[in-house]
Formats: sequence, C-alpha cells, structure tokens
Amino acid sequence: MNEKTKGYLFINLKTYLEGSGEKALELCKTCDSIKRKFKLCEIVIISQVADIYRLSSKCKTKVFSQHVDITKPGAYTGKVLFQTVKDAGAKGILINHSEDQRTIHEISELINACKKNDLTSLVCTINEETAQAIAQLNPDFIAIEPPELIGTKTSVSTAKPHLIEKTVKYIKSINPNIKVLCGAGIHSKKDVTRALELGSDGVLVASALVKPKNRSKKILEMCEAIEQFFEKKKKY
Ligand code: G3P
Repeated sequence: MNEKTKGYLFINLKTYLEGSGEKALELCKTCDSIKRKFKLCEIVIISQVADIYRLSSKCKTKVFSQHVDITKPGAYTGKVLFQTVKDAGAKGILINHSEDQRTIHEISELINACKKNDLTSLVCTINEETAQAIAQLNPDFIAIEPPELIGTKTSVSTAKPHLIEKTVKYIKSINPNIKVLCGAGIHSKKDVTRALELGSDGVLVASALVKPKNRSKKILEMCEAIEQFFEKKKKY
C-alpha cells in the first residue's frame, strides 16, 4: 500500500451484474480518474476472480480478489490458486466475508499464504470477539461488518458506533499496525466521515457504489470525505 495513504475506500463488487465484466472495468476506470484528484485516499476494488486480469491489465486502481482457495497445484479441479490470482494482477485477498465464511484455521492459513505470496490480507469479521481472535493472526486489514446491515440503508457507523470504537480499540491494542475498516449499509459522505471519526482507517462499501447509475458521483463524494478528514487531521 502507498506509504502516503491515510484513508481507504474499498469497493466490493460482489456478484452484482453492475460490477461484473465490462461494467466492472468501467467502474475501475472511473476509480482511476477519481483517484488522481486525491492524495490521502486510496481506492481498492475487490473483484470476482474471473475479472481480476481484465481490471488489473487496464487500470491503475489496486485490485483484490474476492476469493482464493487453500490448495496446492495439481489435480484439484475448480479450485483457485494463490499464484494464479497473483499472476492475474491481484494485490490482495478478501478473506472470510460473511457471504464467503471460513473457519479460524482456514483464515490463519490464508493470512500466512498472503504473507508468503506478498499479497495484502483483508479479513472480515462480524463481531468484536472474532475481530480479537483474528487480530492475533496479524493480517494487514480487518473489516468489521454486521451482516444484518449489509445491503441496507442503515449504516454501521450510525447504527453501531460503539461496535466500531470497541473493535478498533481491541485490534489496535493487539497490533497497532493492523488497519481497521468498517462496512455495511454505508451509503453517504456522512457515513464515511462518521466511520473515520470513530477510529476506522477506511470503509468497505458495496451496493451504494456498485449499483447506482450515478456511481461516479457517489465514489467521488466518499473519497472527498476521506481526503477532507485526513487533511483536517494533518493540521492538528
Ligand atoms: O463487503 C462490503 C459489504 O458487505 C457491505 O455491503 O452493500 O452494505 O455496502 P453494502
């Protein structure tokens, strides 16, 4: 990750049609042009495995994979290898999203494999207890996402501020180098600012940035929120 970066906007394309194939590429190109306007905000796209090369070969925005398998090269039909995802241009892996859950043992293996393959690990968690357990495994990022708010218009930063504050505190007390994100229901500039005020290093967003027709405006607004927050912080 860029050393100068202060705040992160991760966009999870999930399997939305608006975030698949050529539409994913269009969104990634939009992120390239928006990113040029900001110094303190980094955008990362989390793509379906099949779209990683399409995006990474044509865009500068970092691409993470939504999935990878713990598998060796060989006769393992249908599995996704770390090496293949990396060769396709992925810079990191999303692990344990509530829509693609793993056991703690698998999470640990995946984080270690990311380290070995020089890929950034972003592990999702649904509550603070799991966040603490995951923090012991030292991933690069942990995202807290209450599943009941995912895809809604109620943002985690307004509905569960204490959850964010507590999780950030727990994680940073275990390892201050782990970056903490929050996600679920985040749909406005205000939601992003609130998440940062509560101690998050950034946000993880899907439906509000992938599905709407005016998505470039929405992405721009969220980047502005991140840039303005860290600009202000620099002054004090
Ligand atoms: O990974 C991000 C995600 O689960 C949040 O989804 O649609 O609530 O922004 P959404």
